[in-house]
Amino acid sequence: MKKIGILYGQENTFPQAFIDRVNQKIAAEGIKDMMAEAVLIDTVEQAKSDEYAVIIDRISQDVPFYRAYLKNAAITGTAVINNPFWWSADEKFFNNALAEKVGVPVPKTFILPSSLRPPDTDENSFRNMKFPFNWDKMFDTVGFPAYMKPHDGGGWKSVYRVESPEDLWEKHGETEHLVMMLQEEIDFKEYFRCYVLGTDNVHIMQYEPRNPHHLRYVLDGDPVDQKILDTVHDYCIRLNKALGYDFNTVEFAVKDGIPYAIDFCNPAPDADINSVGEENFEWIVENAATMAIEKAKQYKKGQMNLTWGSFVTDQIAPAKKAIKKAPAKKTVAKKVAVKKAPAKKAATKK
Ligand SMILES: Nc1ncnc2c1ncn2[C@@H]1O[C@H](COP(=O)(O)OP(=O)(O)O)[C@@H](O)[C@H]1O
Ligand SMILES: [Mg+2]
Repeated sequence: MKKIGILYGQENTFPQAFIDRVNQKIAAEGIKDMMAEAVLIDTVEQAKSDEYAVIIDRISQDVPFYRAYLKNAAITGTAVINNPFWWSADEKFFNNALAEKVGVPVPKTFILPSSLRPPDTDENSFRNMKFPFNWDKMFDTVGFPAYMKPHDGGGWKSVYRVESPEDLWEKHGETEHLVMMLQEEIDFKEYFRCYVLGTDNVHIMQYEPRNPHHLRYVLDGDPVDQKILDTVHDYCIRLNKALGYDFNTVEFAVKDGIPYAIDFCNPAPDADINSVGEENFEWIVENAATMAIEKAKQYKKGQMNLTWGSFVTDQIAPAKKAIKKAPAKKTVAKKVAVKKAPAKKAATKK
């Protein structure tokens, strides 16, 4: 039996709709050996977690235990959507750098050391930093007003619009241990939020982040230039290919006809019918169900079934040819006593 599981937190509308849709589609297609359900976790033992062919992860960003569970499931072959290893590694600042490498415009961005020192560090932990910081260089590049937001955040938490250096320093002082990005403001005309499933399925939604929460997904917005939509579509695909996410939302702010990617590190995207609206909800339920069934069909027991982005598989940077092969060296610390290999007869049982 190929099981498709969904792991979720406080959300109430998407998970059950997804499970029902997958099971309906399986029945309609006459597939006998497949089913969808809510993931149920009991004991979790290393290297023993192959119950699910596919797991859609909607919550491990908030629950480290779940992230560890998912990595363990992945090594036994579960196709975890999204790849929990990549999700553990990337964050917004790195993703912005990757966007530049794959030709997607992003606002100019710097990263700032946290306002408070991380626990168990003192001034000696920062001897590699040049103080005072070259703030002028950053301010000249980014300009004001600017955005300051966590390099690894979501849900609009600790997102600030800052008017001046003094404003920035004051707000930075409130951010405690967060590592913040200082980012150029894109004074946008249009804004889009796009579901991106894999590398060929994009659903572009008009979005107005300046509206109150329940009115952000725009249902009857002004017509949009087809060229902009085509560019947005192309950029979505480029980003998801590079990142290797199966299920993401990508946000763009459009200024002077150029879409700038603002937020594309959303691998558990909002899919609540009460915020995205009925039509978008129907799209994501239907298309996520189709994708999960496809993944379950492709699933190969005992093998790695995760998706990896081209940053990992093709080594986007540095270029392959720049990597020189160093001659192999093998050293063991002098203090380590090396045990002689046991005699052959002890090693092979007959
Ligand atoms: N560089 C920027 N220029 C203009 N608006 C921005 C910029 N960065 C963030 N915003 C606004 O702030 C909102 C939240 O920022 P975002 O990067 O999406 O963080 P989160 O991951 O918390 O949603 C965005 O939807 C957008 O409206
Ligand atoms: Mg966002």
